[in-house]
Amino acid sequence: MTAKLIDGNAKAKAIREEIRTRVDARLEKGLRAPGLAVILVGTDPASQVYVAHKRRDCEQVGIISKAYDLPETTTQQELLDLIEELNQDATVDGILVQLPLPAGLSSSEILERIDPKKDVDGFHPFNMGRLAQRIPMLRPCTPAGVIDLLDATGVDIKGMHAVVVGASNIVGRPMSLELLLRGCTVTTCHRFTANLQHHVGEADLLVVAVGKPGIVNSEWIKPGALVIDVGINRGAEGKLVGDIDFDTAAERAGFITPVPGGVGPMTRAKLLENTLFACEELHS
Ligand code: GUN
Repeated sequence: MTAKLIDGNAKAKAIREEIRTRVDARLEKGLRAPGLAVILVGTDPASQVYVAHKRRDCEQVGIISKAYDLPETTTQQELLDLIEELNQDATVDGILVQLPLPAGLSSSEILERIDPKKDVDGFHPFNMGRLAQRIPMLRPCTPAGVIDLLDATGVDIKGMHAVVVGASNIVGRPMSLELLLRGCTVTTCHRFTANLQHHVGEADLLVVAVGKPGIVNSEWIKPGALVIDVGINRGAEGKLVGDIDFDTAAERAGFITPVPGGVGPMTRAKLLENTLFACEELHS
């Protein structure tokens, strides 16, 4: 392997330690601990695992996690009413609705009902709009975590040609906006992109966030590129794999994130950071 490994576990641990210190400092001053409401609707097994991790992370750093596990049969109105109640609750700094929601619930209406100052996922159009206008408030966690990982390499990405593969509201789109904010020239590729290989080959910085192993052939990667793999997929024998074949990509890239241990832990760490930010800067 020629690429340098970008260690998401180490960076995420450092962020959690910093948050723990800042939460402890609040408690010593007699201030309340930050609070995060985590809402899970239904019994999707992957969502249950993600939510359990988020709740455990909160506990570790002293953030109070409030669990709302709702049945599959929850109605749109019941969920909207719960969000209204949490919007008014002064002990709640962040509200997270785990996605995807069961069929029949409109996630856009629900996410838009969250007070933008409690939108610690950064998915509300208000927060996405602020990011697009270069005045971010609460930033989507995965793209913000990727920026931290890029900073950790020590490489100046300003002026680089960044190629983002994937245009979802959760990762691809805000990722492109974050990279634009950092002075990259950004190409966003998506399901209708005509020649993916051509664009990938032009990338000084490549972010792949599709959720399909092998969507990008490692042989396409420009030698020396910074490569960020956001994909988390179950491969053969239940092993976690990214969207890119790691071993081949690591022979071409200058820097690369592993899966697991790259972007995933950073998404979780940035959620804690957003919750503390909301508590300290938006709700004091
Ligand atoms: N489902 C997959 N990723 C995410 C995320 O970052 N936040 C929420 N709320 N749901 C998700």
